Amino acid sequence: MVSIELTKKIYWDNNVEGYVILLTEDFESSADISFIEKFYPHVLSILKKHKFKGKVGQSFTLTALKNEKLSQFVFIGVGMWDRVWHQELEDLRRAVGAAVLKLKSLEVESAVIQVPEHNVFGVEQPELVKQMAIAAFMSDYKFTTFKSEEKGKDWSGRLLLATDVRNDAGREAALEQAKIVAKAINHTRHLADMPPNIATPTYVSEQAKKIAGGVQGLKCAVFGRELAEEFGMGGFLTVDVGSEQEGKFVVLEYEPEQKDAPTIAIVGKGVTFDSGGISLKPASYMTGMKFDMSGAAAVMGTMQAIAQLKPSVRVVGLMPLVENMPSGRAGKQDDVITFMNGKTAEIVNTDAEGRLILADALCYAQKFYDPDILIDVATLTGSCLHALGHSYTALLTKDEKLSELLRVSGDMTGDRVWPLPFDDDFKDAIKSSVADMSNSGTPTYKAGTITAAFFLNNFVEKGVSWAHLDIAGTADGVPGVNYLGKGATGVGVRLLVDFVMKYKR
Ligand code: BES
Ligand code: ZN
Ligand code: MG
Repeated sequence: MVSIELTKKIYWDNNVEGYVILLTEDFESSADISFIEKFYPHVLSILKKHKFKGKVGQSFTLTALKNEKLSQFVFIGVGMWDRVWHQELEDLRRAVGAAVLKLKSLEVESAVIQVPEHNVFGVEQPELVKQMAIAAFMSDYKFTTFKSEEKGKDWSGRLLLATDVRNDAGREAALEQAKIVAKAINHTRHLADMPPNIATPTYVSEQAKKIAGGVQGLKCAVFGRELAEEFGMGGFLTVDVGSEQEGKFVVLEYEPEQKDAPTIAIVGKGVTFDSGGISLKPASYMTGMKFDMSGAAAVMGTMQAIAQLKPSVRVVGLMPLVENMPSGRAGKQDDVITFMNGKTAEIVNTDAEGRLILADALCYAQKFYDPDILIDVATLTGSCLHALGHSYTALLTKDEKLSELLRVSGDMTGDRVWPLPFDDDFKDAIKSSVADMSNSGTPTYKAGTITAAFFLNNFVEKGVSWAHLDIAGTADGVPGVNYLGKGATGVGVRLLVDFVMKYKR
């Protein structure tokens, strides 16, 4: 794992093996390049020869002698810091990603990177330090647990972030926070990447207990089928009983010192494998469905970070964990089930299982915690990929203020969200002739992501500020974002941690 430090020395005075230079498209006239020119007289013509133009995604490495030592100069293009929707912050994160991946591949032991002037980004310097550090840690994640040759052979490079010394305490604290958040994100990614024969509901619930055991101020409670029956969780149970693996319902609780603190409840879909159940998925659609617990993993990561960052907000994380399998005991099409709040649903498709377990979890959150804010995060619908692809999480809420807060946190952290319409035009899509609702929208309505949210809406009491986040497109396999790598992205952790830390009633 890379280790990150702050350095008070100016850039070139650091005695390191690698120097990362972020260059904008107008770099020819920049102070950085004229400085390097002094050292390395032909650098500008070399960059030109190699068609380096400072565009986003461009990089160029030069091996040269500095202080008689072989050094790596890694030039990273950053475009023109395009100030649209905080795209400039995202470009910076990807520039850091490119740098870390390059340093790692060259096995550079130590390197320095300049933190750019923060005013360009419209944020304070500590925030910039935090964003860069998190991106660096995220770039360094790779799932190697089952790669005999690679596992345990981590890169242990040092990365120095060079800043001026204007805000010493602020940037130190920001780096500490970044370490906490990044560790939680990478843990979330690891859980989501673990194969479903190992990462069963029991395994995931044990991980939650382990985390709570290691962090002061975080409590964990777990229950299974028996208590779920007592609570009348017909949604949770109808998915759970089809599997040989017993489902687990995990409650993680962070209690601040302040007694009259507001409460935020977050609920994550935890289907450790989604075969579709009796409405079995075709084989090619089933591959990858280990990721269907990414929402629950994000809740775990968020709670892990929150309990260490200690905001003055009570935060409760709920993780209904089940495996969706077909069997003689499994729920089937035409079944009618009853949820914890007494409402009923006709099962039209057992593959629309996430909303069933979330429904009971939403009921549980409101019954026992009376939250001011309720947010669920779930790999809920394939439709979400059609609507928004891989770069935006779908946001569905009727609360404009909550929508805006989540959007701002998303732009700041890189876990970007985009609102989908959520008005009553879609409500009738889940009508049923035999029950209060059906578990899947009538095909003529299309808009599967929206109709799924309308299903969940039935389980949110009036007056509760609720938002639904569909992460089906953003939880893994995001193409073209270097710092997210190949598998799980840990989506949700950056967003929810930032949201909770800034939350004021
Ligand atoms: N876990 C899936 C959602 C999903 C599908 C995510 C494909 C990513 C890619 C969910 O449980 C599911 O199967 N949803 C169905 C719902 C439908 C039957 C109403 C879907 O989206 O097809
Ligand atoms: Zn699913
Ligand atoms: Mg499904």
